[in-house]
Amino acid sequence: MVPRKEIVSKFFSKGKFITPDAIEYLEKEPSLIELALSLEKTVIKVEDIKKLKKPEEEKPILIIKKEREVPAKEYEEEIEVENLCDFSMKERKAKDFNSYFISRLQNIQEMLMKRINPISISNLRENGEIQSIIGIVYEKRISPAGNIIFTLEDFSGFVKCIVNKESEIFKHAQDILEDEVIGVKGIYKNNFLFVNEIIHPDFPAKEKVYLDIPIDAIFISDLHIGSIDFLDDIFLKFLDWLKTSKEAEKVKFIFICGDIVDGVGIYPGQEKDLRIKDIYKQYDKARDLLAEIPDYIKLVIAPGNHDIVGIPEPQPPLKDTSLSELPNAILVSNPCYVKLYNKLKILMYHGYSYDGIIQSIPSLRKVGYQNPSLPMLEVLKRRHLSPRMDDTMIIPHTQDYLVIKEVPDIFHSGHLHTTSVMNYKHVTLINSGTFQAQTEYQKMLGHIPHPGIITLMNLQTRKVKLINFCKI
Ligand SMILES: [Fe+2]
Ligand SMILES: [Fe+2]
Repeated sequence: MVPRKEIVSKFFSKGKFITPDAIEYLEKEPSLIELALSLEKTVIKVEDIKKLKKPEEEKPILIIKKEREVPAKEYEEEIEVENLCDFSMKERKAKDFNSYFISRLQNIQEMLMKRINPISISNLRENGEIQSIIGIVYEKRISPAGNIIFTLEDFSGFVKCIVNKESEIFKHAQDILEDEVIGVKGIYKNNFLFVNEIIHPDFPAKEKVYLDIPIDAIFISDLHIGSIDFLDDIFLKFLDWLKTSKEAEKVKFIFICGDIVDGVGIYPGQEKDLRIKDIYKQYDKARDLLAEIPDYIKLVIAPGNHDIVGIPEPQPPLKDTSLSELPNAILVSNPCYVKLYNKLKILMYHGYSYDGIIQSIPSLRKVGYQNPSLPMLEVLKRRHLSPRMDDTMIIPHTQDYLVIKEVPDIFHSGHLHTTSVMNYKHVTLINSGTFQAQTEYQKMLGHIPHPGIITLMNLQTRKVKLINFCKI
């Protein structure tokens, strides 16, 4: 309580008089003294003071951080991963190549036998009749006369096959890749098989599979974190959209298909293109960025050729990196199968073989980079992720893990840094672009990337939307 004497003297010093009841009131409400002193009156009465607004006491502000309620949280994830990689193999010997090729031939032969009725190469007869065989393409060349000659091998022997340059199937024969397994039909004469039909294993149209819960998945790849061309501002926009937008509320899974970081020593002179020069620090940065993604969204992360696990395929999961600290990350091999809710099957393959395929298939040379679904379609029809051995420096395992044994519902790749979505016999082929701007090397080759685009799929309807964060 402020003493009565002090109140009187304050008013007196300002040339004001104050009534006794007003003094009594101010004794109990000293916070009003200053306001009463500023009244433009000579005599201050209690009624004048009561009219003054008592300054509100500052109340502590209680901040309750409310967790965002989103539909995707209502559904528990159900996810099964099949890593296509034999981790137990330590040392590889020449005989491993043998069992590897046997596995490739046997697996794809089985698929082709649903389409043709073959005989063994050693049973070919010069009888003037059309005969069918299945084999692995040992070598392929153009003869001096301009015909295509290739050698097919099965478990019984070899045969040279000829496609005449005037033949209707000549264009198709140009697309044959060394090391792929094909079926051919033709007439055997003078130790040559004169081919009139080439058959790839392919597959019959699938039944379209949908989830019965309303959740979405996002498909991205090729972040290249650590590169001077990594578009961090665009990636932050994407993260912000994930955390705040209505459109992202159903997102339950994000598939990231390799090249998470830019790596170190991937190509000569890479150092000058790196903002983060230590590969482990690149993964730390990746972990910090991905940690922004809410935990209820599961991140399925596969490696690519820029990641720490080395270029040869198949590649093991990125377990020895700081990505394993993310509680919601599922680290998978490249390639791998992921099954959601025991229904929808996704094949993830980074796509390192696609460069070689685009170069080897004449019809893809001009269009393959701008439409990355095309090399994806070629490997799908051949039921092998890297038909040419040379394209991926394949590591021979006890079996060929790059054979597409089971046709997926969604086939997800990256690597080419361009975006496309295609449907083929109810399989959705997604190549998911990049978060890296055009590099000097790409400029030199004339490759134009599609950065900052995500593919958003409603897994209940299988409808796809591309969202470009460079334009938002
Ligand atoms: Fe990449
Ligand atoms: Fe790549």
